[in-house]
Amino acid sequence: MEKARITVFDTTLRDGEQSPGCSMNVQEKLRVARQLDRLGVDVIEAGFPISSDGDFAAVQAVAAAVRRPIIAALARACSQDIERARQALKGAARRRIHVFLATSDIHLQYKLRISRDQCLEQARDAVRLAKSFCDDVEFSPEDATRTDPAFLCQVLEAVVEAGATTLNIPDTVGYSMPEEFGELIQTIRQRVRGIERATISVHCHNDLGLAVANTLAALAAGARQVECTINGIGERAGNASLEEIVMAMRVRPDRYAYLTGVASEQLYPASQLLSEITGVGVQPNKAIIGRNAFAHEAGIHQDGVLKNPLTYEIMTPQSVGVPDSTLVLGKHSGRHALGLRCQQLGHHFERRELDEIYRRFVVLADKIKQVEDHHLLQLIRESCVAALRIPPAHVEAPARAVAASAVAGPNGGREYLQKPFPIPPATDLGPASLLRNSMAEHHCEQEDYLWGV
Ligand code: KIV
Ligand code: ZN
Repeated sequence: MEKARITVFDTTLRDGEQSPGCSMNVQEKLRVARQLDRLGVDVIEAGFPISSDGDFAAVQAVAAAVRRPIIAALARACSQDIERARQALKGAARRRIHVFLATSDIHLQYKLRISRDQCLEQARDAVRLAKSFCDDVEFSPEDATRTDPAFLCQVLEAVVEAGATTLNIPDTVGYSMPEEFGELIQTIRQRVRGIERATISVHCHNDLGLAVANTLAALAAGARQVECTINGIGERAGNASLEEIVMAMRVRPDRYAYLTGVASEQLYPASQLLSEITGVGVQPNKAIIGRNAFAHEAGIHQDGVLKNPLTYEIMTPQSVGVPDSTLVLGKHSGRHALGLRCQQLGHHFERRELDEIYRRFVVLADKIKQVEDHHLLQLIRESCVAALRIPPAHVEAPARAVAASAVAGPNGGREYLQKPFPIPPATDLGPASLLRNSMAEHHCEQEDYLWGV
């Protein structure tokens, strides 16, 4: 089956920047825009030029420097905003004016204080004006998901008629449910005359944690552009996360048979750069790019991943630009991972010796949560003294391993007090290496599974 190509519209520099603590100056926006270009997004929404001179300058600078993707600028449905957007985009190789106007009764009545008829006319006029400056015009009916569907379709029909080439359906307040949102997209496809002349786009907020699910439901219903941000930053609870949408399509092409131009191995570098620039870190358990996304602490999981990463990983860390999977030594860890780390630190133990170290390790892990290399080395020394065993004379190897593992990650990324240790490459995990491994030598697979706990 031929895969449909999805346009990835990144709004990290506009909606993303609207999240508290995430505003960026011109130079910072330029750095992010260059990384978005490397990432392969199709459209970069660089800012809202009327909002400040700084934002105007940022859109101008991005338009001048980044030539492959379309550069979009946001404008309210009024002539000053559209004129400002036009000015800011003058130097762009490929440009888009993105006009928005709220359509829900609650916004019309309380915020804009205009009638539905006035809204319809204003939207049509604004799109006509934008179209006179630029072929590529996107229109967003703000708060679309709380708008009367009949009126929404009426507005969309009017703006297509006026020349809009992309119709973006925002779930502005993150209110919609996936099936409902999919149905709305289908309704629009069925009811809006001229819809085949425009691309349907979606822009979902995460107030109920459903931004990505809603976006994917909309794709299944026929949307062909997704609006999203790196790390899911954006107003309030944020926007749909670009990395999650892209990897959902990559990992599950059986359900989401779509293509994007995104180079997925640039996802983690993009996430790191954004965190470094804004100073806003990512939650550790954030899908795809959080520092725990490829870290394993539980013994059963560590044992499985050491035997074959496929047991607990549905994508490789390298596919999203994360250097490696890691094992974290904590109270849930098992002998398999502990033994491996001891080996990496230059200490090879027989099973009974490792049992003794493991016993002490669990007591320590209960107290200090995460056991780092220097704790482990101390523990090895103590265990060896207790057993009157002379510790292996690999003095340099452990020192080197500790020094290497102490390198701190960049701000907001996979930062540990001590870097968790990487899993050896799969080639080192074959049956031959398990045989070489003194820990595994007596055990059948099932026993090893239990022993890994
Ligand atoms: O969330 C929203 O409705 C928006 C529009 C400007 C597209 O950000
Ligand atoms: Zn938004």
